[in-house]
Amino acid sequence: MSDAQIAQKLAELATKDRRLERARIADVPQLHTLINYFADQGDLLHRSMSELYENVRDFIVVKEGEKVVACASLHVNWEDVAEIKSVAVSTPLQGQGIGALLIEQSIEDAVDLGLKRVFVLTHKPGFYERLGFQRADVLSFPRKVWSECIRCPKFPSCNEIAMDRPVDLELSEPLPSQE
Ligand SMILES: CC(C)(COP(=O)(O)OP(=O)(O)OC[C@H]1O[C@@H](n2cnc3c(N)ncnc32)[C@H](O)[C@@H]1OP(=O)(O)O)[C@@H](O)C(=O)NCCC(=O)NCCS
Repeated sequence: MSDAQIAQKLAELATKDRRLERARIADVPQLHTLINYFADQGDLLHRSMSELYENVRDFIVVKEGEKVVACASLHVNWEDVAEIKSVAVSTPLQGQGIGALLIEQSIEDAVDLGLKRVFVLTHKPGFYERLGFQRADVLSFPRKVWSECIRCPKFPSCNEIAMDRPVDLELSEPLPSQE
């Protein structure tokens, strides 16, 4: 998606008094609540306050006033690859294109950083397939990635699916508009 297309999506967001921005320190308690709400349901991994403060610069958020209603983070793993993680859209706002916008903005940020590829570990492959990701072998990722998997308490019975996408992929269909 081009910068112009993302700008159009951001303008659509603004018509609903929502804005996408870099997370700030004051957002961390709300990030903690939002991510861990979905983690309790098994959709995401839990994140501690300390992890969120340490990685706050990875996060983008969608806000309504001062309320964080959606988030995503882009975490650089190696010279050419970053993981998109902690993607969450508050339940009443799901299905309006916000998740897709967060992923596209994260991919633009990856391009700006000079990365070539992004990946996810997910229980929702259909969402990412819609955005051009393909299933991948986690062992094809840099050793740093799967060495973290090995340390995870869920290893080896984790049922997350590894998927990746080159950052310069042209999508054949446009992103959904925000209704
Ligand atoms: C998954 C999630 C981030 C999607 O965000 P969203 O704002 O609801 O998604 P969008 O409205 O941008 O949807 C974009 C497209 O993906 C599709 N999609 C959304 N969730 C999907 C899912 N779980 N499975 C398959 N497709 C899905 C939508 O139908 C839409 O496709 P369309 O354009 O063909 O209609 C959101 O449902 C969420 O926060 N879930 C709880 C936390 C979670 O599971 N996070 C992701 C874990 S990796």
